[in-house]
Amino acid sequence: MPTDARFVAGSSVVTNDGSVDESMAGVAGKGLRGVYGLPWLSLESLLDLSSLDAVHDEVCVALASLPTGYTGGSHRSMGIMPEELRDTALVDYVEVIRSLDDAQFAAFRALADDPSLVERARREGLEYGEEREVPLSRRQMLWLEYRFGVYFPWKVYYEMIPNRWWTEKHDPHGKRFTRAAESLLPKTVALAKSLPFSQIGRCNIMGLRAHDYGTVHRDGHPEEQSRPDEFITLCPAQNKTLFLYDRQSREKTRVSGRAYWFNDFDDHGVEADPHFRYSIRVDGVFREDFRQRVREEAERVRAQISAHPGTLADP
Ligand SMILES: [Fe+2]
Repeated sequence: MPTDARFVAGSSVVTNDGSVDESMAGVAGKGLRGVYGLPWLSLESLLDLSSLDAVHDEVCVALASLPTGYTGGSHRSMGIMPEELRDTALVDYVEVIRSLDDAQFAAFRALADDPSLVERARREGLEYGEEREVPLSRRQMLWLEYRFGVYFPWKVYYEMIPNRWWTEKHDPHGKRFTRAAESLLPKTVALAKSLPFSQIGRCNIMGLRAHDYGTVHRDGHPEEQSRPDEFITLCPAQNKTLFLYDRQSREKTRVSGRAYWFNDFDDHGVEADPHFRYSIRVDGVFREDFRQRVREEAERVRAQISAHPGTLADP
């Protein structure tokens, strides 16, 4: 059972400014923070998804041409995985980079977009990669994969709105859709812009190749969260098996559908499936009217679950 009082279902969280935020009420019977008392929430009935089939066609053509990259690959060294699943990250690139000998480091440096930055970072003891001071180049990622077997779960990753730091993903300042996104993904850009956000700070396509899985991790520490980060995930082909992982019971809760929201400070991962699949994630700040609709929808689903226990809690 939950040990943290803030996880207890039905309770409310008093936020830093003293207000009560029911979005953090926890999920009954589960060690999940959830959103408005639910492990996750389908947004299908709250959004106009009529363009999603056309978006799917557009994305698949665009991914064949866009300069996609890798992401993930350092969840273990980031300390964001459940202890018992740390081995499933396989080979972590930060651990590999820390152990490079001089000759290997020279190869790593030569494959950087800016080798002088890599050299200086080494002298200053900086780290490389996602959420670290010096990003990896695509060539470095491929070399880390080919030479050391680093496992990058998301191998078809494209930032439609590039965003450098996780903590800035809701902030639109100084950002925009790439020209390539505007020209190759006009329907997708239009759909993202039509979503009920007051501002968007990040939009990306996250694809997993056949048989790869998304390592279980959480995007932040639950104790540092005062309300769930707001984002919308779209899965046009509805063929991605996302799940939430409960560290206390070690149970998985499946997330399904074409549009959903969950608390990304809960652990989440993607099952291996024998085919390529992707989702589009848009981060920002919900419009207040949408937040209210989300609240009402969550209330409706909670009522349905309590009327028919077990039917909707684990779709
Ligand atoms: Fe994540």
